[in-house]
Amino acid sequence: MGDDTWAALADQFVDEAYATVKGQVRTYVMHQQLMEHLPAPPATVLDVGGGAGNQSFPLAQAGYAVTVLDPSSAMLDKARQRLQRLPQEVQERVTLVQADGENADEAVQGRRFDAVLCHGVLGYLDDPEPMVEQLCRCVADGGVVSIMTGNARAGAVRPALERRWDDALAAFDSRHEVGVLGVPGRADTVEELSGLLRKGGVEPIRWYGVWLFVDWLEFSGAELDPSDSEQVAATAAVELEASRRDPYRRLSRVFHLVGRTTSG
Ligand SMILES: C[S@@+](CC[C@H](N)C(=O)[O-])C[C@H]1O[C@@H](n2cnc3c(N)ncnc32)[C@H](O)[C@@H]1O
Repeated sequence: MGDDTWAALADQFVDEAYATVKGQVRTYVMHQQLMEHLPAPPATVLDVGGGAGNQSFPLAQAGYAVTVLDPSSAMLDKARQRLQRLPQEVQERVTLVQADGENADEAVQGRRFDAVLCHGVLGYLDDPEPMVEQLCRCVADGGVVSIMTGNARAGAVRPALERRWDDALAAFDSRHEVGVLGVPGRADTVEELSGLLRKGGVEPIRWYGVWLFVDWLEFSGAELDPSDSEQVAATAAVELEASRRDPYRRLSRVFHLVGRTTSG
């Protein structure tokens, strides 16, 4: 494990980004999408690069046995703090492991999980292949792999909405940008990651967008009120529907790809 680059980002990501309307929409939409594929609780879930457990603690609350694996001490500290606020029985369903995702199989000592998640991580790696190979290795027969990452086909959306026209023009043929957290990121395509999953014996079964309208609104300067729960719920319902259909899902800056092991 290298330097903890996430130490400087932990508060910004865990406390601030997730508290926005966009953050709430993301958690909701991803959860609903996962529920279409996950086996019933108490199935086991490995969340690789799971950070502070924002996406997987709700699964523990729903009865799943969750292992969060992450190299960042700062993110795992956040996970511990957030966990302490949950009921004891939920805490008992969560295990935290400090390791790089590229060493996941060894870090979990060869254990196989009913679902392996990797959300918002591949974009920070130069090459997604070693990580995807490990995700496929850690999933049980018949289990599910869930990847969320940047959509290389929608790179021009953000600079265009921010009226950075030169950047938008360049973004059509680029996979790299400095993301909203100020960290350089890399985007992938559904097709390429599907190919990597197949190499690992996992058949892609469905892909979704994640957020769309809230993203566009935010980048164009609109202010959305995260405390207006009725509006947030109405927004999330629209986003979920958009995430499932063309052409909307194709324009989302982030996609969610789900696969299942072919041997199951
Ligand atoms: C944007 S956060 C996403 C956290 C979580 N998956 C979520 O969706 O809330 C990115 C996470 O990836 C983790 N990460 C970075 N490099 C990693 C690697 N090589 N293996 C596993 N996790 C990594 C960071 O420590 C951080 O917690």
